[in-house]
Amino acid sequence: MTPRIDASPEPAKIQAMFDGIAGRYDRLNSLMTAGLHHRWRDLGVLVAQVGPGDSALDVACGTGDFAFALRRAVGRQGRVVGLDFSEEMLALARDKCGRNQLWVDFVQGDLLDLPFADGEFDACTVGFGIRNVPDIPRAFSEMRRVVRPGGRVVCLEITRPDLIGFKQFYNLWFDGVVPLLGRFAAGDKFAYSYLPASVRRFPDPDALRDVMSGVGLINPRYEILAGGIIALHHALV
Ligand SMILES: C[S@@+](CC[C@H](N)C(=O)[O-])C[C@H]1O[C@@H](n2cnc3c(N)ncnc32)[C@H](O)[C@@H]1O
Repeated sequence: MTPRIDASPEPAKIQAMFDGIAGRYDRLNSLMTAGLHHRWRDLGVLVAQVGPGDSALDVACGTGDFAFALRRAVGRQGRVVGLDFSEEMLALARDKCGRNQLWVDFVQGDLLDLPFADGEFDACTVGFGIRNVPDIPRAFSEMRRVVRPGGRVVCLEITRPDLIGFKQFYNLWFDGVVPLLGRFAAGDKFAYSYLPASVRRFPDPDALRDVMSGVGLINPRYEILAGGIIALHHALV
């Protein structure tokens, strides 16, 4: 019998799940998005509007790809910190520093209680992470707090398309194929069944924009990418 998928973002469960799939996360990400995930993060860096010498924080950084993209934008004089609560994901991110020849300071922490001063960064990003937290307003509020006035908060997240035809294909792919890929390629059907379940209960792009404005972020907006499956939200502090 298929177990009921509990998509409630209980922190200890989420942390254990990401610790468990860390070693296969990058491979599966590329498989499930046909490698497009790198392009989406590059667009995230663009709307973060960071340049040489700036400082940026990427929360829920996982294996570090968003942080490395930010690093390329801020150059040698800039500073990038990646924060995550999964030590296994962070270990892989730190390994990639050498391979990418890009230095990022990867630290363990909870994005709901960021260990940084008010206004410490020029921008704060989150990629495919906010869906996993139990308190989304608090996550945005913390991201806003650590960014200086005039800086940017950016959120890249999966969303569900509206377009008739594509919507049906997407549901089939996401609810049927993704969990199977998870079982065969990652050996963890639960983790990749959790993925569609967590997207289903996540606010739609308009509602997420309203959450951002509710915590005081200025002029929150979003772009829909990849035919409607990715939403890129951004706002000023
Ligand atoms: C789907 S991965 C995304 C990783 C990366 N940002 C990317 O773009 O590939 C989600 C990450 O969020 C982290 N995470 C979830 N809740 C968190 C929290 N409350 N504090 C810190 N990290 C968290 C998980 O450990 C995991 O590494």
